[in-house]
Amino acid sequence: MAGLLECHALSKNFDAVAAVVDVNLEVTEGSVHSIIGPNGAGKTTFFNLISGEVPPTAGRVYFKGRDITGLPSHQIPHVGIARCFQRTNIFPKLTVFENVWVAMFSRSNSGALDFIKRVSDFGEIGDKTREIISELGLEEKLTERAETLSHGQQRALEVAIALAGAPTLILLDEPTQGLAPEATQQMTQLIQRLAGRYTILLIEHKMHVVMAISHWISVMHFGQIIAEGGPDEIRQNEAVQKAYLGGRR
Ligand SMILES: Nc1ncnc2c1ncn2[C@@H]1O[C@H](COP(=O)(O)OP(=O)(O)OP(=O)(O)O)[C@@H](O)[C@H]1O
Ligand SMILES: [Mg+2]
Repeated sequence: MAGLLECHALSKNFDAVAAVVDVNLEVTEGSVHSIIGPNGAGKTTFFNLISGEVPPTAGRVYFKGRDITGLPSHQIPHVGIARCFQRTNIFPKLTVFENVWVAMFSRSNSGALDFIKRVSDFGEIGDKTREIISELGLEEKLTERAETLSHGQQRALEVAIALAGAPTLILLDEPTQGLAPEATQQMTQLIQRLAGRYTILLIEHKMHVVMAISHWISVMHFGQIIAEGGPDEIRQNEAVQKAYLGGRR
């Protein structure tokens, strides 16, 4: 079976820096697929190529068999890909409800007539918004401003905003970064709950998180995929151990 997402010989150069080098990667529908690798390996740049933040220098990206190479970032949610950024990307002055509601409301933005149609859907959008917020365990924070949430809750809110777009594939860039052990555990459980219903492509540094939740792991080093496999295989892989012990660039 073809992958939900397929990257063929994908590369990105920033002047003299080869950030992503000839990456071939296939993400199976329904899987939790992790990208690991040292700082500066090219993981976030790789996400940027998929989500249209930057165009690739070479190579192609296919999603559900469709060539989406170079599609601008504002069109990416409409094909079914949601992106959570390495830094939180929420409206701090809006409430939790409003943050998710806005994301859901702007999901289909094809013109003024559509806007009128969607006004009649207000109730339904509100119900779905509450449903997603509850799913992420934020129901008690519904009317709180996002800026008052803990760091962990803000990361969960960002996932809620991503789910509001009804994606098939979710790209998560270090969702546990900066989180204390308990909040890390909660985020890990959250990803596990979402797994199966969504396909998840995850960048993560914390190895215990990666090993606990991934079906498949791709290891990136100096822009290249140097190893791929299940958690046990990757744990024992010599090249992977060297990449991690061999320092950072
Ligand atoms: N917009 C850009 N302009 C120039 N160089 C860039 C740009 N974005 C990334 N790079 C470079 O590309 C390389 C890969 O960076 P990237 O952020 O993709 O790494 P990463 O694997 O996500 O690292 P980390 O684990 O620290 O988040 C680095 O050398 C970085 O400096
Ligand atoms: Mg990064």
